[in-house]
Amino acid sequence: MTQSPPQVALITGASSGIGYATALAFARQGTHVAAIARRADRLAELERAVNALPPGHGDLLPLAADVTRPDELHRAVQQTLERFGRLDIVVANAGIGHRGSIADADWSDLETLLRTNIDGVLHTIRAAVPAMRPTGGGHIVIVSSVAFNLTAPYAAAYSASKAFVSSLARSMRLELEADHIAVTDVLVGRTHTEFNERRLGAGKRTGQGVPTMSPDRVAEGILDAVRHRRSVIVLRFFDRLIVWANSLFPGIMGRLARRQYQ
Ligand SMILES: NC(=O)c1ccc[n+]([C@@H]2O[C@H](COP(=O)([O-])OP(=O)(O)OC[C@H]3O[C@@H](n4cnc5c(N)ncnc54)[C@H](OP(=O)(O)O)[C@@H]3O)[C@@H](O)[C@H]2O)c1
Repeated sequence: MTQSPPQVALITGASSGIGYATALAFARQGTHVAAIARRADRLAELERAVNALPPGHGDLLPLAADVTRPDELHRAVQQTLERFGRLDIVVANAGIGHRGSIADADWSDLETLLRTNIDGVLHTIRAAVPAMRPTGGGHIVIVSSVAFNLTAPYAAAYSASKAFVSSLARSMRLELEADHIAVTDVLVGRTHTEFNERRLGAGKRTGQGVPTMSPDRVAEGILDAVRHRRSVIVLRFFDRLIVWANSLFPGIMGRLARRQYQ
């Protein structure tokens, strides 16, 4: 009996946090991983961690690239095909936060947020889908946030960027049905990563009293979503409560958010 070849996953934002944990989790189960981020030293650290996994792990291909640059993503996909010969799974995870009022924010910060969280996801998908089609299936995971439907004063640009990618996931799912490519929208809640430290903008407050989960927990959820071809996942009961309250009581939730973020 011939064994099917290992699957290949391409993950953006793999140099820290959720992307790093997801890359390790895929490699641990034997999937080859093309890991994208700008910080090459962090990707080298990830490669060492993958090589230290027990036998049977997948290989890691570190690819220094910027998701705001479509040419760099096309090159990264090409390098993935040259190394592994196929592409099955894409995790569009790279992202950045922003706090502060829209009217007073530096345009350069808002532009970085939009180019990374919106254009970066579009460039990733547009570079990857043509490479996924020949295998006759596959899976795209979009890392969004429970803030996607939040009335979010002082986190408005971030929340709107996640509304964009969640909406994209919903529509794209039907566009890609003919290619047998599944799409999962991951609505992530507060996770312990470098996200808050690296956030752009003047507002430095971080929501108080919100439970935090580990990036490994999110990575597990992503692997499970791919295994079961899920459409939308929300990982914790607390986060389901937030999504539900955001849609039923947008005014109240918006006022609570303003107290947290202003
Ligand atoms: N942490 C949370 O509480 C939370 C909650 C909801 C949703 N999320 C979402 O989860 C995703 C991952 O965030 P995280 O929490 O893991 O934060 P993180 O630790 O700061 O990781 C962000 C990753 O994105 C990469 N990145 C940023 N800009 C990039 C660019 N232009 N090109 C390539 N890579 C870029 C960073 O790598 P380089 O800087 O090396 O390029 C890094 O690997 C984001 O989409 C975020 O919105 C996080």
